Amino acid sequence: MSSSSTAAPSLSKLQKIQELESNYLLQNYGRYPLALDRGKGVYLYDVDGNKYLDLLSGIGVNSLGHNHPRISKVIRDQSAKLLHTSNLYYHEFQGKLAKKLVEVSGMDRAFFCNSGTEAVEGSLKIARSHGHKISPEKYEIISLENSFHGRTFGALSVTGQPKYRADFEPLLPGVKFIERNDEAALEAAFSERTAGIIFEGIQGEGGILPVSESFFAKARALCDQHNALLIHDGIQCGVGRPGKYFSYQLLSQPILPDLIAFAKPISCGLPMGGILMSQKAADALGTGMHGTTFGGGPLVCRVALEFFDILDDLLPQMVRVGEYFREELRGLQAKHGFIKEVRGAGLMIGVELDIVGKQMVNDGFENGLLFNCTHETVLRFLPAYILKEKHVDKAIKGLKKIFSKY
Ligand SMILES: Cc1ncc(COP(=O)(O)O)c(C=O)c1O
Repeated sequence: MSSSSTAAPSLSKLQKIQELESNYLLQNYGRYPLALDRGKGVYLYDVDGNKYLDLLSGIGVNSLGHNHPRISKVIRDQSAKLLHTSNLYYHEFQGKLAKKLVEVSGMDRAFFCNSGTEAVEGSLKIARSHGHKISPEKYEIISLENSFHGRTFGALSVTGQPKYRADFEPLLPGVKFIERNDEAALEAAFSERTAGIIFEGIQGEGGILPVSESFFAKARALCDQHNALLIHDGIQCGVGRPGKYFSYQLLSQPILPDLIAFAKPISCGLPMGGILMSQKAADALGTGMHGTTFGGGPLVCRVALEFFDILDDLLPQMVRVGEYFREELRGLQAKHGFIKEVRGAGLMIGVELDIVGKQMVNDGFENGLLFNCTHETVLRFLPAYILKEKHVDKAIKGLKKIFSKY
């Protein structure tokens, strides 16, 4: 039998995966042409064995990198014992994790759920319920332009970017958007009808943009004056990412929110979210008013406890490496006029360009680097907390090559 010279070329592993997905999966994601197979530390490997330095960690989720020996061990151990209980029963890890979170945040109570958007939903419900107890007219929420709080209806209603909202209008009534750091607009937006205000300490998806200390302080004062709740979205800028447990701890004066929504890094890649709250906020939500089937299961809680055990010692390294990364990026800024600004805190880093950055993300693949571009012009780096200076040096070497093309 002669071999046929007309046979169609066989598909690569990536093409096979792409073909299957394009036939059967909802086409709501615009994926990069990269199929990942495994990870180790700060490195990822694709299905063909190519190695990448992961500077995005699954959009800020794989906090201890990939395949961390202590996390893998805890997952193995707990999965052989008990995965899920529902919230009908107790297990030993929810209370321990709540205590840890309360201690590091200055809040009074914790609630666990499964994702960031769900943490925002719960926070909005608490603000609404707090308002209702005072007056049925007290239901307004203030939020910021350019913010991102999630994809479910409540979270979308307070997300200040029309491109995410437009197809789903009408959304929740009573949401007012103001510009980040515009204190006059903040004051004008508040009234006795305000139930709460929500903002990220550092806008993530919006381009690594911090809320100023005086804006934060003003929001706190206005919430106190109008008996409204301050909701801090710490989903991207929290749980260690900014070099502190939460970004409000970077402020020179201590200011506490009433509610903190958290998610992404807390369970090292397992889906987990939650809300931390003051007793005043907790008083707005009685038994039976909110809940979830999956939230706070024994596996995710135990992994999060292990994560905190490691994080406590990692924070100083994260601050040091983050600062080093920004310094090195500023070195590149001095050579490349298209870099407008390098900013961020801890291991949450943005490089603002005056050109569109999408192609640079693709160039990153060729140079073994994973990062992304948000808001068209901001290269975003959210590496794992275990990143070291030697990894930064590798990143800078690759970025030098990429930037030299522009
Ligand atoms: C600040 C912020 N809030 C909320 C969310 C929504 O989180 P999730 O995608 O887990 O629902 C995100 C996700 O990127 C976020 O960055």
